[in-house]
Amino acid sequence: MGRFGETVAALEKVFTDAPWLFEVYTRIYRSVVDREIELAGIDANDRVLNVGCGAMPFTAALLAKRSGATVYALDNDPSVVREARRNLARAGVADDVEVVVGDGREVIGDGTHLPEPCSVAVVALQAEPKDEIVERYRRAQGGPSRVVVRQPRSVFSADYDPVTTAQAAQDSAHDGGSSAGSTTSSRVIPAVPDGSVSHWMVTFGRSLLFRTD
Ligand SMILES: C[S@@+](CC[C@H](N)C(=O)[O-])C[C@H]1O[C@@H](n2cnc3c(N)ncnc32)[C@H](O)[C@@H]1O
Repeated sequence: MGRFGETVAALEKVFTDAPWLFEVYTRIYRSVVDREIELAGIDANDRVLNVGCGAMPFTAALLAKRSGATVYALDNDPSVVREARRNLARAGVADDVEVVVGDGREVIGDGTHLPEPCSVAVVALQAEPKDEIVERYRRAQGGPSRVVVRQPRSVFSADYDPVTTAQAAQDSAHDGGSSAGSTTSSRVIPAVPDGSVSHWMVTFGRSLLFRTD
């Protein structure tokens, strides 16, 4: 993650005790999450793994509230998990969201590290390395059948790790580059999204859908 992304993540940790900020984020992200719910067809029968929930897991809270799905919120930083649990309790969704410590490359939603297998994964903008995470889900047996990934705008690709899509790899090759910006791109199979939705967010303009079945 670049300096901008690190600053945003650090602010989330610093201001974790501010319920008003959780509320502000929740309002801002409502339409983003609603579009992602529609994109992946998430409903109350789904179990959703939110990779990179952060200390203020507003995406996980919105996924639970707006779709009725059971949500597992994952973060690889143990120090944020306690705060995440507290903020979810404040938001009134502690019963619908279970926070788990782990890395998105290891906890692949096949039921090995979680109480049950997940049908959907929603990957945060700040989660990395995205190519490896997406590749693990694409190969996993019994993992999520739908993977939603927030893709940074190209001007923010140094701050937030993008997925190497087939289109991005092609553009990069035309420009004489060897990769589309990922740290792991040398062994990445470019992914072709099965769908996408656009957003008006400053740092990310689209969420991509990958179907694994
Ligand atoms: C700052 S949060 C932002 C998410 C935001 N709160 C939301 O609800 O959409 C992003 C989190 O992703 C976590 N993260 C980054 N890479 C990860 C990975 N591979 N596995 C799990 N968590 C990851 C970071 O520790 C960070 O806390």
